[in-house]
Amino acid sequence: MATTAHTDYDLLVIGAGPGGYVAAIRAAQLGMRVACVEKEPKLGGTCLRVGCIPSKTLLEATEKYHLAKEEFHHLGIACEKVTVDLPTLMARKNKIVETLSNGIGGLFKKNKITRLTGAAGFASASTVNITSAEGKQTVSARKILIATGSEPASLPNIPFDGKYVISSDQAIALPAVPEKLVVIGAGAIGLELSSVWRRLGAQVTVLEIHHTTLPGSDDEMGRHMERVLKGQGIEFIFASAAGAVKLQKDQVVISYKAKDAKPDQPAHNLTANLVLVAVGRKAYTTGLELDKAGIATDSRGRITVAKHWETSVPNIYAIGDVIVGPMLAHKAEDEGVAVVERMAGIPGHVNYDTIPFVVYTAPELAWVGKTEEELKAANISYKTGKFRFSANSRALCMDETQGMVKILADARTDMVLGVHILGPQASTMIAEAVIAMELGASSEDIARTCHAHPTLPEAMREAAMAVDGRTINS
Ligand code: NAI
Repeated sequence: MATTAHTDYDLLVIGAGPGGYVAAIRAAQLGMRVACVEKEPKLGGTCLRVGCIPSKTLLEATEKYHLAKEEFHHLGIACEKVTVDLPTLMARKNKIVETLSNGIGGLFKKNKITRLTGAAGFASASTVNITSAEGKQTVSARKILIATGSEPASLPNIPFDGKYVISSDQAIALPAVPEKLVVIGAGAIGLELSSVWRRLGAQVTVLEIHHTTLPGSDDEMGRHMERVLKGQGIEFIFASAAGAVKLQKDQVVISYKAKDAKPDQPAHNLTANLVLVAVGRKAYTTGLELDKAGIATDSRGRITVAKHWETSVPNIYAIGDVIVGPMLAHKAEDEGVAVVERMAGIPGHVNYDTIPFVVYTAPELAWVGKTEEELKAANISYKTGKFRFSANSRALCMDETQGMVKILADARTDMVLGVHILGPQASTMIAEAVIAMELGASSEDIARTCHAHPTLPEAMREAAMAVDGRTINS
C-alpha cells in the first residue's frame, strides 16, 4: 500500500453527513482551507444514503399509492386497477439519493473543499490516517471536526443477520413485500417503515416496550398516533419487550414478554418473514482510534464535548449523532454551522430548546418544545389550547381531517412552551411554531397574527386562541 505525504489543512472534517458536509461548506465560506473525509463512496451520510431521504421517498410514493387505491373514491375519483412496481419505486429512490449525493460533491468543488475517500483513524491529536483501497495517506490539520454519526443499535439476543433480522439500512431496500413483518420499536423509524410496508400490503405487528407509540413525545399525541395507525391496519403489542429470535423453516419466531412479567411467566411468540429492529441508534466511532488522540467518550460511547463542541483534546471538536442529544439531521447541521463559526471567532449558537421533531407518518406528527409530561415534572403551570383538523376548512377540502394542534403556554406569562401537531403537513406547519418560540412569542402573539384562509396553519391560530378559551370555529 502506498503512503502519501502529509497535507496541511485549517480544518479536517471526518464524515460527510448533514453535520460534516454543512460544517465543511460553512468553514470554506469563512476562508478556511478544508478537507472532508468520508469512508463511503457516496456523500451525505446516514440521512441521505439510508435514512431520511430514502425513507421519505418511499413514504411519499406509498402514500400516493394508498390514496389512489383506498381514498380517492371519497373524492369522486375512480381508480380501477392500481398496482405497485416495486423495482421502479426503489430505482426512483436510488436516483434521488444519487442526485442529492452528487449535489454535495458539486458543492464541495464550488467551495474548494478537498474530498478524501477512505476510513479515518487518528494517528495523533493532529494527524489522521486515511485508508482506502487505493492506499493510505496521513493528513494533518490545525483543527479536526468529528462528525461520524451513528449506526443502528441491536438487541442482545436478536443480532442483525441482514436477511431475517434487519435494520433500517435494509428495510429501505427490500426486494419484495414481506407477507408478515414484525417491527421491534414504535419510535420514528419503526412507525415510518411500518407505514411504508403496511401500505404495500405487508401484515405489520409492532412490538414496543413503552405503553404507547413514540416515548418522549407528548403522551396524548402518542396515543392519538396509536389510534390513527391502528386504523391503518398496523397491529401493536405495547408494554412488552422482545426477548430472542429463532429461525423455523424460513420464518422467524420472536419471543416477547410483558414488561412487568414475572421471570417464571412463559414468553409469547410471534412469527414473521422478517423482523425489523428499530430500537434506537448508537454513536459510530468504529476505527476512529480515539484513544490515539486521547479523546474521551461517555458510558454510551458518545464523544464527550464541552459547551462549544470541544472534545477533551484541544482543537478537536465533535457534532451530530456521535455526541449527546437528539439524533436528527437538522440538529447536526445547526451544530456544524455553529462549531466552525466558533472556530472563526463568530458566536455560533444552537438553541436546543427549539429543535423540531417530526415523524413522517400519514398524518405526520411534529412537535417543538416541552410536552405536558415534561411541564408537569418540572412543576411549571401551563394553559392548553387545542384545535382539531376536522374543524379546519382546508383540511376538510383535502379530505385529511385526522389530528389536532395543541399549544402549551405558560400560565403566568403566556409564553409558548410547546407545540404539538398531528395532522396533514405537520412537518411544514411546525416551522411557524419554531419561529414563534425562537422569538419568544406568547400564544396571544400567534392568535393575533393574520393567517391566510383557507389554510392548515389557521388550525395553529385557532389553537392559540383556544389557550384563552376563544376559538372561533369550534
Ligand atoms: P427511537 O429511540 O426513536 O425508538 C426506539 C423504540 O424502541 C422506543 O420506542 C423504545 O421504547 C423501543 N424499544 C427499545 N427496546 C425495546 C425492546 N427490547 N422491545 C421493544 N421495544 C423496545 O429509535 P429509532 O426509531 O430506532 O430511531 C433512531 C434515531 O433516529 C432516533 O434518535 C430518531 O429520532 C432518529 N430518527 C428520526 C427520524 C425523524 O425525525 N423522522 C426518522 C428516523 C430516525
